[in-house]
Amino acid sequence: MATAPDQANGQRKGINQDESKVPEYVLPDLMTSPDGTKTNSIADWKTSRRKEVLELFTNHVYGNFPDKNVTIRFSTDSTKQWEVLGGKAIRKEIGIQFGQGEEQVTATLLLTIPKSDKPVPCFLGYNFDGNHTTTDDKRVSITKSWVRNKNQVKQNQASEDDRGCQASRWPCAEIIKQGYALGTMYYGDVDPDYHDEFQNGIHPLFYAEGQTKPTKNQWGSIGAWAYGLSQALNYLETDTSVNAKRVAVIGHSRLGKTSLWTGATDQRFWITISNNSGCGGAALHRRKFGETVQVINRVFPHWFCDQFVEYNEKEAEIPVDQHMLMALIAPRPVYVASATADLWADPKGEFLSLAHSDPVYALYGESAMGKMPNADQAVINGSRGYHLRKGKHNITGYDWSKYIEFANQHLK
Ligand code: GCU
Repeated sequence: MATAPDQANGQRKGINQDESKVPEYVLPDLMTSPDGTKTNSIADWKTSRRKEVLELFTNHVYGNFPDKNVTIRFSTDSTKQWEVLGGKAIRKEIGIQFGQGEEQVTATLLLTIPKSDKPVPCFLGYNFDGNHTTTDDKRVSITKSWVRNKNQVKQNQASEDDRGCQASRWPCAEIIKQGYALGTMYYGDVDPDYHDEFQNGIHPLFYAEGQTKPTKNQWGSIGAWAYGLSQALNYLETDTSVNAKRVAVIGHSRLGKTSLWTGATDQRFWITISNNSGCGGAALHRRKFGETVQVINRVFPHWFCDQFVEYNEKEAEIPVDQHMLMALIAPRPVYVASATADLWADPKGEFLSLAHSDPVYALYGESAMGKMPNADQAVINGSRGYHLRKGKHNITGYDWSKYIEFANQHLK
C-alpha cells in the first residue's frame, strides 16, 4: 500500500488573516472579453463570454477533461438494496466502473431514497473517509481504496472501527424526511487524495498511447473528482426513483471546490453548494487572505492543473478569479457557506465571489447580493444563497438546514 505525506491539513503559520493587510486588487472583468467586447445580454453570455471564461478556468486552474472515451458501467445488484429508516426509505449501493478489463477503477455510490410515488430530488456529494463513515448502518460496505491515516485508520485501510465517524456531516434521516434522496461516494475511490504523479485513480485510464501523466493543462484531482460526480449523475438519470433534473451537488472544503467545478462544467446539475470551500473554491484569490495559491499548490500539488503553479505569488496574473466561477453556474442556483472561525478559507472572500457574480445574474433579472450578512444569518437572494455559520471549519446540521431551505424554495 502506497504511503503519502500528511496532506489532510494544509494550515500554515505566517499566513495573512488580518483584513487590514488585504492588498489592493483589481478583479478580471467578468463582462469584458480580452478583445474588449462587452457582454450585454443573455445571448452574449451564453454564446460567447461564458465559453471564454470556462476555457480560462479549464486551461489555467482545474485542467481539461481528456477527450478519450472510457467505458463507464453501472452495476446494480438486488442484494445491495435494503430498507432503512423504519421502512421509509430504500438504500442501495451502485458500482460505477470506469474502464474495463485489468485497467478499471470502481467507485461505490451509496444512495438513500425516500419511498415516494414520484421521482424525488436529490443531494449528491463526496465524503472524505468512505461511505461507511457517513452512517452507522452495518450493511454499508467498506471501501478498499486508500484512505488517509487518522483516528482509527491505520495503514491507509478503512475498517469497521471507523463506521459512522462522519455521520454528523450526513443528516440522512432529516434529508429523507424533507423528501430528498441522498447520494454519497468516497472521493478516494475515484482518485486517492495524495500526489503520486497520477498513477492511481482514474487518470491513467485516460492517457493517450505512451502518456504517463496529465499534460500542463490537463486535469488534476479536482477535475477527476468532478468527472466522477458527472458519472454519478449519469447513473441517476437511469434511476426512475430520482428526479435527475433536480440533483444538487454539494461538497465541504476540498470537496466544495470540487462541487463548484462540477456545477460549473456540468450544467445538468440543478443547484451547486459550496461549504467552506476556501482557496481554489469560493474565495477570491486576489485577496490573499488565508490560504494562498502558492500554499495550496505546495501542499496539494495534485489538485489543480500544472499551469496553476505559474500563479504562485502571482495572483494578479491569473486570468480569472473565483467570482467568474460563480458566474459559470448562472442562472442555476448556487449557495456558498462560510464559518466564522474558518479564516483559512477566507469567509469574506467567499462571500465576495458570490457578490461579484452580480453582473451575470443581473442579465437573468436577479438583484445584487448586497452586504455580507452577520453570523448565523442566511441571505437567500433569488438564485444565490449565502450564510456565515458561527464556528469552525465543518459541515453541520445548521448548514444542511439552510441548504434544504434553499432547495425547497427552488423546488416551488
Ligand atoms: C486544507 C486545505 C484546504 C482544504 C481543506 C479541506 O486545509 O488547505 O484548501 O479546503 O484542507 O479540504 O479540509
